[in-house]
Amino acid sequence: AAAEKAGYEHFMMKEICEEPKAIKDTIGPRIKNGRVVLDDIELTEEYVKNIGKIHIVACGTAYHAGVIAKYIIEKTARIPVEVDVASEFRYRDPIVTDKDMAIIISQSGETLDTLFALREAKKKGARVLSIVNVVESTIARESDDVLYTWAGPEIAIASTKAYNAQLCALYLLTLELAYKRGCMSEEQYKNIIEGLQTIPDAIEDILGNKGAIQRFASSHCNVKNIFFIGRGLDYALSMEGSLKLKEVSYIHSEAYAGGELKHGTIALIEDGTLVVCPVTQDDLMDKMISNIKEVKARGATVLAIARESNEQVHKVADEVFTIPDVDPFIAPVAAVTPLQLFAYYMAVVKGCDVDKPRNLTKSVTVE
Ligand code: AGP
Repeated sequence: AAAEKAGYEHFMMKEICEEPKAIKDTIGPRIKNGRVVLDDIELTEEYVKNIGKIHIVACGTAYHAGVIAKYIIEKTARIPVEVDVASEFRYRDPIVTDKDMAIIISQSGETLDTLFALREAKKKGARVLSIVNVVESTIARESDDVLYTWAGPEIAIASTKAYNAQLCALYLLTLELAYKRGCMSEEQYKNIIEGLQTIPDAIEDILGNKGAIQRFASSHCNVKNIFFIGRGLDYALSMEGSLKLKEVSYIHSEAYAGGELKHGTIALIEDGTLVVCPVTQDDLMDKMISNIKEVKARGATVLAIARESNEQVHKVADEVFTIPDVDPFIAPVAAVTPLQLFAYYMAVVKGCDVDKPRNLTKSVTVE
């Protein structure tokens, strides 16, 4: 196994470093002459125009990719989307019709609840498209269409590169849906495709600066609680940042929508509480800056994830992990990487078993 780590101390770090490749392999073959070409799935214009509702179902990290997808599909393709964790969907008798599409997301393709949710959606008449990493897995085999993520084998229990690849597949799918429904201008379409193609370099850049994240983790590894706060896509991203951290470092953390702070959580902020704020969405920038000021006024230390040009954030936060200036719409694909690195370094400094956290398995195939 040491050999397979190719010189890295842990699979988790190796897999984070493989993200640029996972992204290139997932989007590369599906962009031809500046257009999204999804040869592997069947999405006729007539079908796409008549989709009633989309149900996205998954567990854990894959579920968090689904939450991002809800925002981007609704915003651009204007199709109503519901996102559920599989163990809720399968038991709540969800309202699904034969005009609906189900998107099932799974790295392993073997998660039991997700598989049963797939069967439930199918039984109710939905057409099932799955986004899966393991070729010919059970979920892949039972789906009407499969859009594979080409992230390669993921060994570490904490999912990293598979998430970035899931997001890429979901962005491509979103482009296809929005375009076929006539909801997206040529310019917007072109910008997103070009933007996605720049993400591998953006992540290389982030990886080149990982020392700063390591240093920050070393000096904050004794904290007992961490809050992740974001708005819009950054809220969805916060959920994933929080899960990653608790899985590998065993530090208690929670993710909240920025606007929810005042409704309870702010009571927990005291001197020295660490608050992590991804702030990549320009249209929500002012609101997030106010949130940062609010928690700082109560003694919090704020670590922000922001794009280079977001100077306002650099002015208010105590520490900023900077990411290159990618388009806010696709920012989560790159902005998750510093959060994964943060979780990784916190775990390493604390001496945790990074690749095999206690009580967890790679794929939950039991109830
Ligand atoms: C991710 O870091 C987790 N270990 C876990 O939440 C995982 O994403 C979840 O179990 C779903 O797995 P799947 O993608 O293989 O279905």
